[in-house]
Amino acid sequence: MHKDLQEILLSEQEVDEIISRIAGELDRDYAGEDKRLVLVCILKGSVVFMGELMKKITIPVEIDFMRVSSYGAGTETTGSVNIILDLLRKDLDQCDLVIVEDIIDSGRTLAHLSRYLQLKGAKSVRTCTLLDKPDRREVEFEADYVGREIPDEFVVGYGLDYDEKYRALPYVGILKREVYEK
Ligand code: IMP
Ligand code: MG
Repeated sequence: MHKDLQEILLSEQEVDEIISRIAGELDRDYAGEDKRLVLVCILKGSVVFMGELMKKITIPVEIDFMRVSSYGAGTETTGSVNIILDLLRKDLDQCDLVIVEDIIDSGRTLAHLSRYLQLKGAKSVRTCTLLDKPDRREVEFEADYVGREIPDEFVVGYGLDYDEKYRALPYVGILKREVYEK
């Protein structure tokens, strides 16, 4: 385990099982000629999750990317969601989007993005998150596909960062408080 972690919350194997289960749910829900599944990765935190998820999906799947900023350098959210990289496709009205997020905290990012992509004209919009911290919600929001609900702790690894660090860890761990409360 990395020295800055207090404990491992989800091992590599647990994350793998969770992602297999979600891939199965997407396979089931988006099968059929009338569906066109497009995973929208929210950079950068979701990149590892989406990479694994797309490999496990067996039906045809396309990918795309968006980037938003809501967090500054630390562990507290700023409350507003800015789109830094937008979805640039012209065929949104034919796309069944599934927004792929690493973690839901206040709920603001996904609440904002799903409304935004619906208004932009997507055929359908659903949301998928690897981790969910329901105790932290500031706006009412529930994802359609949830990997695992976790307690109110700051976690890193499997794409999630603190100050751009720890993204490459192959598991999810709770960051020691002393690392960010200095
Ligand atoms: P929300 O808009 O407050 O739901 O925040 C979602 C975003 O906050 C995620 O995409 C993460 O980038 C970030 N975030 C929230 N909690 C954590 C955490 O425990 N570790 C790392 N990033 C987090
Ligand atoms: Mg993030």
